[in-house]
Amino acid sequence: MARIASTLTKNTLSTAKVDALVVGVGAAPAGGGLVLAPGNDDIDKAFKKRLLAALTAVGATGKAGEVTKLATLGATTAPMLVAVGLGEKPAKGDRWGAETLRRAIGAAARQLDGSPRIATSLALANGDNSAADVAAVVEGAVLGGYRFGRYRSTTKPPVESVTIVVDNPRDKAVKAAYDRGRAVADAVALCRDLVNTAPADLYPADLAQAAVDNCGGVGLQVEVLDEKALKKGGFGGVLGVGQGSTHPPRVARITYSAGRGAKAKVHLVGKGITFDSGGLALKPAQSMEWMKSDMGGAAAVLSTMTAIGQLKPNVDIVAWIACAENMPSGTAIRPSDVLTIKGGKTVEVLNPDAEGRLVMADCIAAAAAEKPDYIVDVATLTGAQLVALGLHVYAVMANDDELRDSLVAAAGVAGEQGWPMPLPPELRKSLDSDVADIANIGDRNGGMLTAGLFLKEFVPEGIKWAHLDIAGPAFNTGEPHGYTPKGGTGVPVRTLVEWLTSLGK
Ligand code: BES
Ligand code: MN
Ligand code: ZN
Repeated sequence: MARIASTLTKNTLSTAKVDALVVGVGAAPAGGGLVLAPGNDDIDKAFKKRLLAALTAVGATGKAGEVTKLATLGATTAPMLVAVGLGEKPAKGDRWGAETLRRAIGAAARQLDGSPRIATSLALANGDNSAADVAAVVEGAVLGGYRFGRYRSTTKPPVESVTIVVDNPRDKAVKAAYDRGRAVADAVALCRDLVNTAPADLYPADLAQAAVDNCGGVGLQVEVLDEKALKKGGFGGVLGVGQGSTHPPRVARITYSAGRGAKAKVHLVGKGITFDSGGLALKPAQSMEWMKSDMGGAAAVLSTMTAIGQLKPNVDIVAWIACAENMPSGTAIRPSDVLTIKGGKTVEVLNPDAEGRLVMADCIAAAAAEKPDYIVDVATLTGAQLVALGLHVYAVMANDDELRDSLVAAAGVAGEQGWPMPLPPELRKSLDSDVADIANIGDRNGGMLTAGLFLKEFVPEGIKWAHLDIAGPAFNTGEPHGYTPKGGTGVPVRTLVEWLTSLGK
């Protein structure tokens, strides 16, 4: 899908040849009225210093997320001015945060269909030329302007380009931050596209091919294991889940090598169930509505690798994309069937709808066999995640507190929300099977943690491992907000890129 174009400029906004100007406004503390963010003197002058009065007259208050549109009536070259609320003006010495700026430009870009070219001063809203703010603004603009138009025959033209005003576009730090923001935003958009694609247009082989198509170009190696290779490799979980579908499973393996002196060796694993019907434990129709998003973990891991190929951090990374379709049929796995996971552990499949952990177990075992320092797996694994943390906050479980906390911290830096969750050993015995090494379901109470404990069984001692359950946050079933539309969100691509690049420092 088309992405919006972006450029940096030091030209003034009042004469920019665009369709809309986006400026930041805040609220003075204690009901002190609307304030114009720094970086807008030239526009204010063009409005004969009456911009705040005009905005106040049509109801702008400066509260975060508010979008107020004003006709410029010739005051500026652009016909429209859009004021986006940043919330309360920070105290002296404080700043508007990167996420505030990201959400503000995102909310504007999301609501400017029909204005293809926009320009903004938001990167100057803190009164300096901060590189971090430039990155936030390009991310917010690209993500808020994101549209998934593949299946629409009519659309109003969305935002096509954004011009970002900075003090000096040639400043090295500013340019580097901009390039990074752009790479991250493109990766998030790719993830959204994959998640939003209808499941009949993205079978397991297509998802694996998406790894080849998108990662090949940025200097990564991609290998795809077909059914024959999966059989030979002992991927009994992936094969078992995939056997009910007429569209056979795949595993894609993406490799990035930092070269000599890499700081760490990381393996990522993504759940890529292209559609989760529940299998013979068929889900009710309503619960199936979002199940095209059950490859959100795989999409995020794959997309992260495209950004890694561009940012080239000093870490060796291997990504496993576990692709299968979970369907009911005469060949589907039955409750009580036993699968042999890669490495030899056996699993009694008591519930074919707990399929994600089966494909993840294979790939975690495959990753572990290569003895990395870290394994991070990402999966839309349980409905229990939604019950516990909702649509915005994903869960981070780990066998190492420092790793868990570093991922939660990376989420915060990147503008995503992860939260630490425990792996209580007491729940493990509920996964005992009468016939096999382990069963694929356990205690329903704390179901997200039981699923985490299941995966932990496949991680050998000595490897630091974390599990991200993104069931809710991968797919926005609620209203659009900030730079997040309905549908695929691209979570947790930004966390992963932030965590991997800081590991390489
Ligand atoms: N893909 C689902 C989890 C899910 C639910 C993701 C809602 C996104 C939104 C997973 O495969 C599943 O079906 N899990 C079951 C596990 C249960 C049978 C132990 C669940 O959570 O109900
Ligand atoms: Mn399921
Ligand atoms: Zn699933």
